[in-house]
Amino acid sequence: MPHVSVPAHVGEEWLRRVEAEYTSSAITASLVQWMIRLGAPPELIREGLRIVDDELEHASLSARVAAEAGCEDPPQLVQESLGLHRTEAPLWLDALWAAVESFCLGETVAVPLFVAMRADCTVEAARAALDRIVRDEVRHRDFGWATLDWFIQTRGDEARRQVERALPGMMQRLRTNYGQGGDAPSSKTSTSQAQWGLLPISRYAEILERCVVRDYVPRFEALGIDFTTRC
Ligand SMILES: [Fe+2]
Ligand SMILES: [Fe+2]
Repeated sequence: MPHVSVPAHVGEEWLRRVEAEYTSSAITASLVQWMIRLGAPPELIREGLRIVDDELEHASLSARVAAEAGCEDPPQLVQESLGLHRTEAPLWLDALWAAVESFCLGETVAVPLFVAMRADCTVEAARAALDRIVRDEVRHRDFGWATLDWFIQTRGDEARRQVERALPGMMQRLRTNYGQGGDAPSSKTSTSQAQWGLLPISRYAEILERCVVRDYVPRFEALGIDFTTRC
C-alpha cells in the first residue's frame, strides 16, 4: 500500500537503487566467474558468491520501498552490457581492475554513503533496507581489499604498478558519479525525503572526499600502492 503522502522523487530514486543493485550483482557474478578461472582461493570465491546473493536481496528490499512510494515499474536494465566485459588485456588484469574499481573504491565509499542515508531515515521499509545494506557493505568492502591482497601476493609489483596506472581514471569516473564535474540534479533534500533515506547530491561528493583521506590513502599505502600523488 503506497503511503498517503510521499515526497517527490522517492519512488524513482529507490527504483534507481534497484537497478544499481542488479548492476552490482551482475558485476560480482562476472568477477567471481573470472576468479574461478584464475584459480583464486575457494574462500574468496565463496565470499564473492555470497555478495552476488546479498545484492539481489538489496534489490528486493529496495523494490519494496519503491512500491511503498507508489513506484511499481520494473527495473530498466541494459541487458547487453550488464556485468563485466573482457578487454584485450590478460584475464587477471581485467579481474584486478574490476576488483579495485568496484570493490576497493566503490564498496569502500558505499559504507559511509549508506550510513549517511540511514541517519535520518525513519520510514520502516526504507530503514529495513538500509540496515541490511549497511551491514553487508562492510563485508563487500573487505572482499575487495582481500582480493587485491591476493593479486599482490600472487603477482607482486606488477599488480601494484597496474593498479597505480589505473587509479587516476577510476577516481575520475567515481568523482563524476558522485556529482563532481557536472550539474547537480538536486542539491537539497527535504526532511521528508531524508526520512525515506534520500541524500542530497552535495553530500555524495563530501563523503567521497572524506573516504579518500580516511580509507583509500592508508589502505592502498598499506599494500605498497601509491595513491596520494596520483589521485
Ligand atoms: Fe548492494
Ligand atoms: Fe555491495
